[in-house]
Amino acid sequence: MSTDLAGPSRPDSAAPDPGVAPDAGTGSDPVGAADRTARFWADVDRHQVRYGPGFIPEIIARAEGAYIYTEDGRRILDFTSGQMSAILGHSHPEIVATVRSQVARLDHLFSGMLSRPVVDLARRLAETLPAPLQKVLLLTTGAESNEAAVRMAKLVTGGHEIVSFAGSWHGMTQAAAAATYSSGRKGYGPAPAGNFALPTPNPYRPDLKGPDGTLDWQRQLDLGFDLIDAQSVGSLAACLVEPILSSGGVIEPPAGYFAALKRKCEERGMLLILDEAQTGLCRTGAWYAFERDGVVPDILTLSKTLGAGLPLAATITSAAIEECAHERGYLFYTTHVSDPLVAAVGNTVLDVLQRDRLAARAAELGGVLRAGLLAIQDRHQVVGDVRGRGLLQGVELVVDRETKRGADRLGAEVTRRCLQLGLHMNVVQLPGLGGTFRIAPALTCSEQEIALGCEILDQAIGECQALHGR
Ligand SMILES: Cc1ncc(COP(=O)(O)O)c(C=O)c1O
Repeated sequence: MSTDLAGPSRPDSAAPDPGVAPDAGTGSDPVGAADRTARFWADVDRHQVRYGPGFIPEIIARAEGAYIYTEDGRRILDFTSGQMSAILGHSHPEIVATVRSQVARLDHLFSGMLSRPVVDLARRLAETLPAPLQKVLLLTTGAESNEAAVRMAKLVTGGHEIVSFAGSWHGMTQAAAAATYSSGRKGYGPAPAGNFALPTPNPYRPDLKGPDGTLDWQRQLDLGFDLIDAQSVGSLAACLVEPILSSGGVIEPPAGYFAALKRKCEERGMLLILDEAQTGLCRTGAWYAFERDGVVPDILTLSKTLGAGLPLAATITSAAIEECAHERGYLFYTTHVSDPLVAAVGNTVLDVLQRDRLAARAAELGGVLRAGLLAIQDRHQVVGDVRGRGLLQGVELVVDRETKRGADRLGAEVTRRCLQLGLHMNVVQLPGLGGTFRIAPALTCSEQEIALGCEILDQAIGECQALHGR
């Protein structure tokens, strides 16, 4: 299955991988390798549950820095940092060293026991955050961190109704999935009562326009809350939103929006929960994306980037909210809560981010990436929009810039061609909208790697368009 995706003659992507055994791919035993490859995909067909749209047709052998290496020795530049998580690149030497030493000393504990890595990480996270965010619950996944946040908001406010964006993604567990509208809602029976969608403020596709033709986000927000107020049974608990919607197509709500949203929450006694799974920990050029807005959430959730690819998440709130939740018997007791192994990884992630000043680096590299993407937009009419912040950028493909009709199929073809050329890209395809590439390379990438990614994307868009005579 991977053979039809064999790399082209681009020297850097076709270079044999010294870390792969010679007979694992096309080396000394091509027949044996072909058999093993066929067996691998037969096992996939027979034994893998298909949990999403499909599997990438490559057998991945290892990953290091900005690259993924296939079993047959191809090198692929990773423009999604794994699942938008590996902000320090793959197998960062200091993370490897931390895992090795920590797993040998103290890995996992009874959930009611605490250890130094956990308490250190809680204190250090609080030091990166504005007051009053100081109380930290360490968990495993993004969905879980949102589950914990929603449970806390319900207990503290006494309400149960949750508002989130119509383009949201907060995870696959019950409360997180109930607050997720971008996909996966159909076919699973009734969602919990009291979840409401708020229109996503999308400056590229403004659904309510002011006199100057730009998005009238204040009117959109007012109308959204008029509808929520009409439907609410008087039990509003929280607004759970991403500062930049990633799975919704890298959509950045305009400046001023989150301050206005916070006011809407305060007027109704709701808590504001910001989900910085993808935007937290320096990726956007600041430690947290909410810094742009001068708004401090009541609860902040972190995941993906916090463990830089390892399963670590956090739910963070004020002492007052934590106190109230505790008094009311807050329970979020999980197997891997406060686990020392991943907490130690989190401490190393903070060490590297702080020592190497990776917030500033993300801002700088983000500028390089953005310039490269804007140059691609200049060359190709199908690139309707380039947007995002720092090292989280979106590129939306459209049939034409006037109607902005989505070029969905082209998005899938360009993604496939990029993979052949040695670049892993992810395209978000939402019904009625075009394909939007979500680009989130590691903060440790070099400028050359960013330039190589842009070069491959440019080539792939050109070739795929030529194929369709567009
Ligand atoms: C903003 C956001 N929140 C939460 C999640 C869920 O995280 P996890 O898949 O680790 O449960 C995701 C995953 O993509 C996400 O993008």
